[in-house]
Parts: sequence; structure tokens; C-alpha cells
Amino acid sequence: MSEFATIAVHGGTSNSDAHGALRPPIYDSVAFEHPDARSMQLTFEGRKPAHAYSRITNPTVSDFEQRISTLCGGGFVLAVSSGMAAISNTILALAGADTNIVTSRNLFGNTLSLFQKTLAPWGLETRCVDMTDLGAVATAIDGKTRAVFLETMTNPQLEVADCTAIAGICRDKNVPLIMDNTVMTPYLFDCKEAGVAIEVLSSTKYISGGATTLGGLIIDHGTFDWSNAPRLVERAEKFGRMALLSSLRQEVYRNLGACMAPNTAYLHTLGLETLKMRIEKSCGNAAEIAHFLNDHPRVRDVHYPGLESSQFHVLSNRQFKGRYGGILTFELDSQETCFALIDGLQLIRRATNINDNKSLIIHPASTIFAEYSAGEKEEMAIRPTTIRLSVGIEECDDIIADLADGLDALPSMRTGTSSAARQQQYA
Ligand SMILES: Cc1ncc(COP(=O)(O)O)c(C=O)c1O
Repeated sequence: MSEFATIAVHGGTSNSDAHGALRPPIYDSVAFEHPDARSMQLTFEGRKPAHAYSRITNPTVSDFEQRISTLCGGGFVLAVSSGMAAISNTILALAGADTNIVTSRNLFGNTLSLFQKTLAPWGLETRCVDMTDLGAVATAIDGKTRAVFLETMTNPQLEVADCTAIAGICRDKNVPLIMDNTVMTPYLFDCKEAGVAIEVLSSTKYISGGATTLGGLIIDHGTFDWSNAPRLVERAEKFGRMALLSSLRQEVYRNLGACMAPNTAYLHTLGLETLKMRIEKSCGNAAEIAHFLNDHPRVRDVHYPGLESSQFHVLSNRQFKGRYGGILTFELDSQETCFALIDGLQLIRRATNINDNKSLIIHPASTIFAEYSAGEKEEMAIRPTTIRLSVGIEECDDIIADLADGLDALPSMRTGTSSAARQQQYA
């Protein structure tokens, strides 16, 4: 069993259900009974593999974790309540006051907000660099850097950095690389092969299989020696390669309480089984739509690494097996026009979220990035003229027809509007 789709369906399952159920049941129980006091002690000490309390482990969640581990080459996996929980738990296990993380300004808005607003008052410095500039990444790392954090393809800027090269820099500097692989998933980007230490995912997106429930994953690929991570030195002596997972399971994750619900694990396991087919369809649709938009006279620009004109095309082609993800962004002449298009659509849904089965559209500057000032948005490459489209698995012709009708119905373009006048309009 070596193919992704086969492992996604069969891999990691215990096949040991008492009734022979092909689909593992949902163990929706908070606590689990032990045969005697000694077993209870051993379970709490982590010396007996049994479940005690569902905030720490649960059989349905463990089954999901085992499947992800098998799919990702045997990594140590922890399922959590959301993508943000995956990111926050990981950072809190590695960094602390008077340390720093090196990352990019081009990140999912809530992640940047976590780093710059939530964690800054606790003494964590966030160093933003241009991740496409390898020299800048290397220079930003110093003795107080606890991790480098990167998205495989940034949401929503769709910037792509050379992940393998950055993993190499991190290896040389003895700093773990955390990769948010939400947008590409383990199907399109193999973090272990690239030398990434920790992969984090929002399983809410592609994996959930239709945006049923929020979930997240932390995968330690076993490539980093945790005795080089100041917060994990003692654990590394005791648990070796499992030091990070033990710190999370027995401390950070247990204490923060952002556990995955058993029902979520059930749904995400179901979603995992069809992941490959859905990604293929969504990426195929996105590529076709990018070309359609690129040729449309009302569209000023299209950002999609699948377009040969994209500065990230060659690198993406190499890194992501010839697929370019299911998200694209495009530019219209003003925020007003963006709103008019969004309002005129009949099939594509006006909603945040990405990688749903349904195509979803949003104006990032006025929604996901609303908490940032105009200047901050500019620094993050979030423009008032940009629309993000997350392409679903519908018939591509129907999505294109909806966009074509919406674009054709737009009021005619104002002419002679200077960029300065446009700036004022958005202020
Ligand atoms: C790249 C990326 N990482 C993390 C998250 C957060 O995931 P969640 O909503 O499951 O917390 C998102 C959400 O959109 C995302 O796009």
C-alpha cells in the first residue's frame, strides 16, 4: 500500500472493532474506566497505552491521528480543535518571553494577529522577513530564534517560497521550521521530504471534506533533534524524538484544552478518504478559471501560481507536483466594483473559508484583514481591489458562467481615475 489515495482509505486503521464495523465508531465519552489502580497509574504516567480523559486522548481522535501519521510517513501526530489551535499550541511549546520567531508578513491574517497581537505582550518577538529572500531569512535567525514559520502558499497573497531551501537554512542554524501546509495539504506537498520539522494544518479546509467542522493537526516529522530546542532539552533526554509531542500532550495541549471533538475526528477521517479526488478537481477548476479571468477585459490582474506569467510558477511546479492549489485572487478597478461583482453572483457563495466543496468568494481587505490599518494592509499586500476566490468541486463551466454573468453585469468602468484618487476613495 503505497499510493496516497489507498492509504487515505485504508491506512492506519486498527480493524479491531468488536462488531467488525468498517467505520470506527464515535467514542463520545469524556472519561474511560481502568481495570485497577495500578493500570490507572501507568496510564497517567504514559507507560500504558490507554485512554483516560478525552481532553488528552480519545479513541476516535487517535484513529484519525494514526491515519494521518501513516499518510505522512510515520510522523508523530496531534489532532487539535482548529488550525489556529495547531499553530498556537506549537508556538507555545517552543517559544517564550525574550525569544523570537522568524516569519513573513504575508500570512493568514489571524496567524499574524496571533503572533503580533496575542503573543507579543507575553514577550515573544515576531520578525517578519521576505521569505522569498533566502539571505534575509538566514540573517534574521539568531540565538534567540525558536522557530521559523512559513505557509507553503500564503493565504491570500499566494506567495510561494522555496520551502526546501528554507528547511536547509533552518537545519544549518539548528532551528525548527514550522510549515503551515493547509493550502497544499500532505497530498500536494510532502513536508517530510522537504526537511520540514513540524507541519501544521487546518483540517477545517480540504481535509474535512466539505467544511463540516473545525479541526487542526500538528505533525512532528521526526527530522529535528529536540535537544537543540531550549524549552525541550530535558524532555529530549527522556523522550528523544518524541520530546515535542510529549510536551504538547502532557503539558501545553493538555493545559490549553483545545482538543479535537470525537465527532470532528470522525468527519475529518471521512473527508480524508476523498481528499485526493477533491483536490484534483478543485485545482483543475482553479487553473481553468484563472485562464478565463486572465482573458477577461474587466479583470486587471490574476494571481495564481498556475499561470505561466506568475513569478511563482516555476517554483510551484517543482514543489507541488504540477498543481497550484484551489485558491486564486484577482484585481478589479475598485473596491466598489469588487463589491458589485460579489453581490451579483448566483452560484458562488459569499463566505469566508477556503477549500470547501463549494466555491466561495470574499473581499479580504474589508473582512479577514479588517482589523489592520490601510498602511498595514499595504505592507501585507492586501489591496482594496483584490477578490479571493476559493474554487470548489462544482462543474467548472457553471462556475465560469456565474463569473462571466457577474463581470458582464458590472457598471462600466470609470475612466481617468488616478491611483491617488483611488487611494482617497478607499481611505
Ligand atoms: C493558511 C491557514 N492557516 C490556518 C488557518 C486557521 O484555521 P482554522 O480556521 O481551522 O483555525 C487558516 C484559516 O483560514 C488558513 O487559511
